[in-house]
Amino acid sequence: MVADTIASETLINKSLERVEELLSATYTQHQLETAVNAMCMHVINAGGKRIRPRLAVMSALALPHYNEELHYEKICHIAAAFEMLHTATLVHDDVIDKASMRRGQPTLNDTSGNHAAVLAGDYLFTRCFDLIAYPEEFGVIKALNRTLSELVVGELYQLENEGNSNISYETYYRTIYAKTGVLFELSASAPAIIIKEDSALEAPLREYGRQLGIAFQIKDDMLDYSADAEALGKDPGTDLADGRITLPVLIALNRSNEQEREQLLEDIKEANLEAVKAAIARTNAMQECERQSQEACDKAIACLDVLEDSPYKQGLIAVCKKAVARNS
Ligand code: IPE
Ligand code: IPE
Ligand code: MG
Ligand code: MG
Repeated sequence: MVADTIASETLINKSLERVEELLSATYTQHQLETAVNAMCMHVINAGGKRIRPRLAVMSALALPHYNEELHYEKICHIAAAFEMLHTATLVHDDVIDKASMRRGQPTLNDTSGNHAAVLAGDYLFTRCFDLIAYPEEFGVIKALNRTLSELVVGELYQLENEGNSNISYETYYRTIYAKTGVLFELSASAPAIIIKEDSALEAPLREYGRQLGIAFQIKDDMLDYSADAEALGKDPGTDLADGRITLPVLIALNRSNEQEREQLLEDIKEANLEAVKAAIARTNAMQECERQSQEACDKAIACLDVLEDSPYKQGLIAVCKKAVARNS
């Protein structure tokens, strides 16, 4: 089993190194392309956890009909495409959120302005489309397009609710699914679209990704109130500053009496971070967030019952556990 685990680690790492190579490939046909490329590489090379490509690679390796010779390059290309898409949405998200730090570095909107940052994000989308076309699989292209429209709807939905302290749990869950769950869903399930013999596993892997994405975003929303900038690599407190009501605050509001609620609504309006944090502590809201994040994580792990046991399946389980236990 130990030898097995080492061998499978080697295969995962080989694929992920290829993904890094694909992410760093540069197109420099035009002087301006060189400049935008350098901006994009600044964000790509700043690191990031690379969870989405890892999911694609590990799901592929966990499938019974994965064949190194037939599928390796295809899977590495789509895995890189998902990271490109993710990075593009982060670059645009930082413009929308007026964020100044990402992956421990100043954001592009901070260093180069909104205009250049929007164009750099657009450029990253073109790189994503290039990579996703590589396997020539219409099903994956269609799925990526659906994901992208859901992501846009998710951001719009969030924008519509900005400054609204009266959102329901249902609205919150719908938003986090649309802005984060959909790309996890695609990353985990796309290999089963490419490996046709395993197409029956696409649906459970989609559900795995969906639940993991929900658990992951709940944790992200918790960290926005509990982590420090250095550990996070981005500025905490951004959700409150931008008028976004996320789960910790939603729970604090629901667990407050009328008088406390009035006060909390006032503190939210004024974006008084310390006062809102105190309300979160007073209502034990973080424990409830933990519970809900863990619940989604357990649902994700249960979806993997359809897979034969392997180090890759164990890897998919480990990603879930890490997503809820992380502090960055
Ligand atoms: C950040 O995603 C955006 C969310 C969906 C919360 P990650 O936390 O995966 O960001 P990187 O890629 O590691 O920087
Ligand atoms: C971002 O959500 C989700 C995207 C789809 C880009 P957040 O706004 O919470 O992400 P961070 O906290 O800025 O990384
Ligand atoms: Mg943001
Ligand atoms: Mg966040």
